[in-house]
This record gives sequence, C-alpha cells and structure tokens, in this order.
Amino acid sequence: MKGSKAFILVFILFSIIVSSGCNQDKIKREKKKEITIGVSVYDTYDTFIKGLVDDMVKAAKKKGNEWGMKISIEIKNAGNNQMEQNAQMEDFIEKGYDIACINLVDRTDASTIIDKAKSANIPVIFFNRELVKEDLNRWNKLYYVGADAGLSGKLQGEILVNEIKNNKNIDKNKDGIIQYVLLEGEPGHNDSLVRSISVINELRDNGLQVQCLQDDIANWNRDQAANKMEQILKNWGDKVEVVLANNDDMALGAIDAIEAGNIHDNNKPVVLGIDGTVVGLEAVRDNKLLGTVLNDAKGQADAILELVKSIVTQDELTGEYKLIENKYIRLPYSIVTRDKLKEEMIQD
Ligand code: GAL
Repeated sequence: MKGSKAFILVFILFSIIVSSGCNQDKIKREKKKEITIGVSVYDTYDTFIKGLVDDMVKAAKKKGNEWGMKISIEIKNAGNNQMEQNAQMEDFIEKGYDIACINLVDRTDASTIIDKAKSANIPVIFFNRELVKEDLNRWNKLYYVGADAGLSGKLQGEILVNEIKNNKNIDKNKDGIIQYVLLEGEPGHNDSLVRSISVINELRDNGLQVQCLQDDIANWNRDQAANKMEQILKNWGDKVEVVLANNDDMALGAIDAIEAGNIHDNNKPVVLGIDGTVVGLEAVRDNKLLGTVLNDAKGQADAILELVKSIVTQDELTGEYKLIENKYIRLPYSIVTRDKLKEEMIQD
C-alpha cells in the first residue's frame, strides 16, 4: 500500500516536471520573435551565388512579414578562402546567431566549421556546394540544401537530343557524329563532376554518337571560359559543333569568344548552359544560347529560409519541402529553351 502511494506520488511529480518542460518549450517557441542568421558564401563574384544570396535576402524579408517575425541576416563573402570562412563562422558564434548557412569554399574541408558549430551548439545549413555524407553525419544539427547535379546534366543532354531531331544542321560536317567541347566548373566540385558525366551519358543513351574535341576547366567563370574558347577555336576552327558548359557564365564566355571570332552564322556551334541566371536567360531569349537548365535559386533560398524557421522554432517543415534522411532538401531542375521562356523569369 505504502509502496503504491509512493509510486503515484513519483508519477504525479514526474508528470508535472514533463508537462512544465513542454510548457516552457511552448513559451520559448511562442516568444521567438526574431531569428538571426549568419550566411557565408564561397565567393560573391560568382553570378549564380550572387543571385542566390539576393534571393535569400528577399525571402527573409517576405517570410519575416508573413511569420510576424524579424529575420536578421548577415551575409559574408569568404573570397574563395576557407580560412577566412572559418573565421566568419567564429564571428557568427561570437555574435550569438541562431543558425549559420554556409556555402563552403572547400567542400572537402568542412571539419573546422562543423567542430566550431558543434561546440557552440549552432546548427548549420550547408548549401550549393555539397559536402560528403560522412561530414554531414557528424552531428544531427547539420543540413544540406541544393539540387540534384545528375539531373541538370541529363536535362542539358535532353535539350540537345531534342534539338538535333529538328535541326540536322547541328552536325555541320554531316558525319553522323557530334563533335563537342566541354567547359567544366571547378575541379573536384560535385556539380562539375556529375554534370560532365551525366550530359554525355544522356546523349549516348539517346543513340547519339559523340566525339570530344577538347575538355577544359574554366572554374564557373565567364572570362576564363572566353579565353579557353578562343584557344579551342584556334585549335579546331569550325569543326566544333556543340559547346557544353557546366554553367551559364562559362557558356556566355564561350559565346563571347565565338562572336569575337567572326565566324559566319552557319558555322557557329550551338552552346548550352546550366543555371538560368538572368544573363543566361537573356541569352536564351536573344537566341545566343540554345538552352539552359534552371538551377532554382529562388526555390533554394525559399527552402533555406523554411528550414531555418523549422530548426530554430522547432516547428514542422512546411508542406512544399521534404527533409530527406533528416538532412537534405533537394530541389528539381527544369529545362529552359526559347519556347519555354517567360519574360517574368528574367525580371525576377
Ligand atoms: C553551381 C552553379 C555554378 C556555380 C557553382 C558554385 O551549382 O551552377 O554556376 O555557382 O554552383 O558552387
């Protein structure tokens, strides 16, 4: 009898402690009126990243209004220097921000940031430059938002496959083989590696015969791509039928070189990009770029903000986005050719 009374008493006390804990959590959640975010990007010189950051700032403002919260967001540029980015993370910790969003400089060197975040208990959303799974699994408050690189290469290939069906002139020398050049992003970057392989697989899977004339690295950069393309044209002249670029900026660099090369319109190779940046979409509209693959910066910015809120306030992640394996949000890519392009896509 005595024993069961004691049990009931312990049970009641335990229930009070648990429920007051829940109430405290609830109060904490209800009271959260401001979220502070530190963002560090590998390099704001990069057109796609610059656009993504602008979209994050816009999304923070819009969602702050919707949620009745103040969202403070500080953006830092790591200037392509991992040590600098590590110091920026330190600064976010010192400022007591709720969360950090990191676009890694070196995707193979995430350990300093992870260790700092873990010891200060600040969750991190990595984005765009995908780190290996082993790193992401080192702590349960690490996340990744990005797109599926394999799909972008596949869709780039699909644009060319469809175009070749209607336009036999792409195979200029009519040898039944597509002579192409490949302009790749940074060496070791997941998107460059995967896009380069998946675009060619897509062409082959659709029965096209292809021949690589030259494969060059241009680090996502328009000027570097223009220089490389100038050299390629010196080496191969009008033998080049197709230019496959891992992103729009490099595709535009190739177009710069082709235009400077005074090549007759009938002899110009077709050029394909990936990203759907404003300048890329304009080139599609102006018929300079055969097509691009939309790397949904607005969607990624939106998803990052939604994930931030759900982590910081412990609310559920809202319907549109799915957190895969409690870690990843991946957004789809889509094809943009001239017939699919809408003017409002260019104007924001
Ligand atoms: C890619 C994008 C490139 C470049 C790179 C930087 O996803 O297509 O243009 O921005 O990210 O990590």
